[in-house]
Amino acid sequence: MKHFSLIAALDSDNGVGRDQTLPWKLRADMAFFRDITMNGICRGEKCFASTDTRSEIQRAELLYLSPHARPEAGSRGASPLEQGNPDSSSAAGAAFHGGQKAKPRDQGKNAVIMGRKTWESLPKKHRPLVDRHNVVLSRTETSFAGAESCTDIETALSLPTVIAAPEVFIIGGGAVFAEAIKHPLCRRVILTRIDARFGCDVFFPVISDRFACTGTSDWQVEEGKTATLRFRFELWEC
Ligand SMILES: NC(=O)c1ccc[n+]([C@@H]2O[C@H](COP(=O)([O-])OP(=O)(O)OC[C@H]3O[C@@H](n4cnc5c(N)ncnc54)[C@H](OP(=O)(O)O)[C@@H]3O)[C@@H](O)[C@H]2O)c1
Repeated sequence: MKHFSLIAALDSDNGVGRDQTLPWKLRADMAFFRDITMNGICRGEKCFASTDTRSEIQRAELLYLSPHARPEAGSRGASPLEQGNPDSSSAAGAAFHGGQKAKPRDQGKNAVIMGRKTWESLPKKHRPLVDRHNVVLSRTETSFAGAESCTDIETALSLPTVIAAPEVFIIGGGAVFAEAIKHPLCRRVILTRIDARFGCDVFFPVISDRFACTGTSDWQVEEGKTATLRFRFELWEC
């Protein structure tokens, strides 16, 4: 089985969702999610979990938020988790990885594993998430068009497509995060912290002291149509 990362966006109460959807719209986070899950957080021997973590994340944040790389909302083909401009996100992602080019697609797709409710929260036209192997966890259903299904995390991590994937990400929601964060193969937690409260009804679990925060970006601000949101990226590792 492969080790894996969790990737999530949290509000100030550690909330991740409300009414089976994301209660915020943060373009930088959507582009970040898309880029990290598509292109991975490692490039060859270089990984942003290196001693240079902080500067790597800061560089990413500068590109994500600079006028030239700022992702635009509502681009077609992106899910609600990731409605950034694909071109912008890949440009920013190259810098996130220390200026190295994203790996060519033929080197293998990363895998994203999610709970059945998260899958259902994605509009049909946006699922499966493109350019990634999608795996849906469910104990009650087996048919998810364009995705593999599994009845438990262990089986999902043992799928040939998951084993062959360069990187594996568990992308939610709350029920799956709660179980996955306790798994010994969970090595990284990649967070977007949003400095606001949204009255969420699903929450991220407590991050145990098995993990240490090895990198944070500075707080950044994004002006949306209805709200201005302050946020930062964090990397936790064990
Ligand atoms: N902020 C973020 O980063 C983020 C990311 C993703 C989702 N979300 C939000 O999170 C919310 C959904 O989270 P949720 O906790 O309600 O649901 P969820 O974790 O997405 O899905 C729960 C379902 O997944 C299946 N499942 C969970 N653990 C399993 C396991 N170990 N083995 C097999 N199946 C398993 C079960 O499906 P069956 O009932 O079919 O057995 C369970 O009912 C939504 O609001 C969504 O928008 C937020």
